[in-house]
Amino acid sequence: MARALYLTTAIDFANAPPHLGHAYEKIAADVMARWHRMRGDEVFFLTGTDEHGFKMEKLATAEGISPKAFVDRISPLFESTWRALNLSPDRFIRTTDADHVAVVTKAYALLRERGFIERALYEGLYCAGCEEFKNERDLVEGKCPNHDAVPEMHREENDVLRVSKFKAQIRDLLTGENASGQNPDGRRIEVQPELRLSEILNLLEGFPDVSVSRKKVKWGIPVPGDEEQVIYVWIDALLNYLSGLGYVPGAATQTERFERFWADPAATQVQLVGKDITKFHCIIWPAILLGLGLRVPKLVYGHGWVTVGQAKMGKSLGNVVEPNAMVEAFGADAVRYFLMREIPFGRDGSYTPEALKLRVNADLANNLGNALNRTLGMLGKNFEGVVPPRLEAVEGDLVASLAEAKAKALAAMEPQAGAGEPYRIHEALVAIWEHVNATNKYVDTQAPWALAKAGESEKLGGVLYAVLESLRTVAILTSPFVPGLSQKIWAQLGQSGSVLDARWDVDLAWGLLPVGQATLKGEPIFLRLDEELAEAGSKKKG
Ligand code: MSP
Repeated sequence: MARALYLTTAIDFANAPPHLGHAYEKIAADVMARWHRMRGDEVFFLTGTDEHGFKMEKLATAEGISPKAFVDRISPLFESTWRALNLSPDRFIRTTDADHVAVVTKAYALLRERGFIERALYEGLYCAGCEEFKNERDLVEGKCPNHDAVPEMHREENDVLRVSKFKAQIRDLLTGENASGQNPDGRRIEVQPELRLSEILNLLEGFPDVSVSRKKVKWGIPVPGDEEQVIYVWIDALLNYLSGLGYVPGAATQTERFERFWADPAATQVQLVGKDITKFHCIIWPAILLGLGLRVPKLVYGHGWVTVGQAKMGKSLGNVVEPNAMVEAFGADAVRYFLMREIPFGRDGSYTPEALKLRVNADLANNLGNALNRTLGMLGKNFEGVVPPRLEAVEGDLVASLAEAKAKALAAMEPQAGAGEPYRIHEALVAIWEHVNATNKYVDTQAPWALAKAGESEKLGGVLYAVLESLRTVAILTSPFVPGLSQKIWAQLGQSGSVLDARWDVDLAWGLLPVGQATLKGEPIFLRLDEELAEAGSKKKG
């Protein structure tokens, strides 16, 4: 049976339209989802919006509308942007969805019943931007560094989640040890990139019990049995990962989807979030899961930031780049390719329209586009566009470069234990483009135009077959990253159906392009971006 892989992203606060930072995370998740589908895994990919809390309430009040009306306007902007970027979530969850609200209410009651949530007096400095109490040491010159804002003092009777009860166990889950005696089988939440782990372990040491209800906030899921308070937005939000799968708190029988993607020990959960919120996912989230008696995720991946110059992009910082404007200016494939190729995954990296233009013109228009275009041109001239017979004797170099690209891409995306970080997406792309380059180099060295001139028709046919077959494998290998472009290559090669149905084990074998198939020389698959377009993509909004 196919491996079950559950892939989640952070759900974005529905306080403003999506920016490039949000898009970056979702694109990476989509690449991972599509990669695993191509590999033959059964994937469930979840993303969505985080809609409750003080931030949304305040913005709605300022506009004189209800918070629900406010988020009903914002959330669809995320969904439509993800469509424009060619993302393929299996569900787009909203924390205002009725099934999610029911799960949060029940899970909260269950945690309270079990003594993991208790009422206490809570006092602290609160940053509404982060929806989080801050310690003095988190602040820079008295301000939250994420939002450049002075946090407010809050003092109220709140419920608290007794994270302290799980600390020893969580430490073991993060390290794979069994110092607590509660982790006998050495289970582990893998934290990647590894450099995030030491920071999390340090934080865990002094991590306080977390206040999980709010009196001053009205816009939220009511605390069961206490209509005066609402559930803390982070508890609400984290539970989306369970409600998204159809989890029923406390029920003896769970839904099939939940069993398959969460409860089954053989299932893999990959939770992709930004480095700023990795701590919530490595400390509070496991505490909730342990309290509910559930398994913890297999991997929490804390990606880096897209920056504008040195600064993190964010609405409160006023340097937002709109993904929709970028898609309009460059197309979804260019945006996806640039972000995944240019920023070493896991680290920070900056976006400029100039760098995007350089990168996609070189790799998509010149390298890949020309390889296809000139080959189909020669095929049209010499074989009326029909795939000629193979000549195995001339194929060796490209068979070898395909094997190498596959091995390297696989090692970058899914390394064996201990062989490096998973999802080195940029390295996978480098490996695939080595195969594209090898294909172009092959054309140069085999010089099919000279073969045509010399009337060596059989060899010419064999060489063109090898190049077309190579491009068929390129279409499959690139499909998780630039699915629109891959489909164009697929169609021009005369392949029927969708390249997205191609599977690693079956369709990446060499020699599957049918001899005698009619190709379709169409428009170039990727047009070079010019200066003017690049400027449109740099349009900024505060
Ligand atoms: N709503 C919470 C997450 C709850 S998950 C149970 C939240 N929302 S957010 O809108 O502030 O951020 C959503 C995601 O976008 C986070 O993973 C965050 O790290 C990521 N990014 C926000 N700005 C970013 C960049 N400039 N670059 C890359 N990712 C960034 O946190």
